[in-house]
Amino acid sequence: MQNRELIEKINKLKKGKNAIVLAHTYQNIEIDEVADFSGDSLYLSRQAANTDADIIVFAGVYFMAETAKILSPNKTVLLPNLSAGCAMADKINAKQLRDFKTQHPGVPVVCYVNSTAEVKAESDVCCTSANAVNVVKSLNSKEVLFVPDQHLGSYVESQLDGVKVITYSGFCPVHHAITPQDIINKKNLYPDAKVMVHPECSVEVTKLADFVGSTTAIIKAVKESVSKEFIIVTEKGVVQRLERDCPDKKFVLINEKAICDTMKLLHLEDILNSLQNNHFEIDVNPQIAAKALKSIDRMISINA
Ligand code: 13P
Ligand code: SF4
Repeated sequence: MQNRELIEKINKLKKGKNAIVLAHTYQNIEIDEVADFSGDSLYLSRQAANTDADIIVFAGVYFMAETAKILSPNKTVLLPNLSAGCAMADKINAKQLRDFKTQHPGVPVVCYVNSTAEVKAESDVCCTSANAVNVVKSLNSKEVLFVPDQHLGSYVESQLDGVKVITYSGFCPVHHAITPQDIINKKNLYPDAKVMVHPECSVEVTKLADFVGSTTAIIKAVKESVSKEFIIVTEKGVVQRLERDCPDKKFVLINEKAICDTMKLLHLEDILNSLQNNHFEIDVNPQIAAKALKSIDRMISINA
């Protein structure tokens, strides 16, 4: 089937079933053609919490669909491919978090949204890459535990005076693999380019950035910038969207390996199949969901 035909079928089904499609910025770009909302994790969580739709098809990875289900327990949340996981979310489970807490009694726990529902349920507050600094600040604590991402936690610490961020050892393999030398090499080739970095990269990399932010924040900053050349230090999907939206500017992906394989599992056929067959419905244990909701709600109420 041609893309045009697939898009027509998907749009018809969405209307008939009162469904919406939420698409993360790292998705294959054709998914945007059927997305009602596309953006970063924080933006998509807000849409999931506010929608009147009966069905949410999440074009993203498992933790995103799970978060949408926790926020909208009475809606049907579909993840079109159950293999679409997040390597960072798999780096810590509830037992490991409980052990981490035992080593640091009384210290509040911030969990990055890239985590399982069980881990969110064991945490005091959730955050995304868009609001991590403000979430930690809002705790007014001299110390916080930050899971699972060591790099986002270290970046937060670098942005706040007098707060010790004790990080877990998790990381995103896609961003972890990017080195300061990669930036230096690209800067040598494009000396005038602005360096736009996602905070899942190491602090040594974020130190070399002109701008650090979530995927949506990077896209917004590029659109508002007077500069014409940018080195994009995150996943390839951001470059594809920028090339589509800003044809007068030049974008250089930090390296061709900056691709999240699980984000790229979905194609238009999968969205159609998901809507036709209710594939695959995400469920969260209600007791865990209730606890996880507290940490997600606390994050959403922080206006950042
Ligand atoms: P965003 O917060 O920019 O959506 O990032 C999520 C993510 O998984 C990045 O790897
Ligand atoms: Fe997870 Fe990294 Fe993929 Fe983001 S890019 S979904 S953190 S594996």
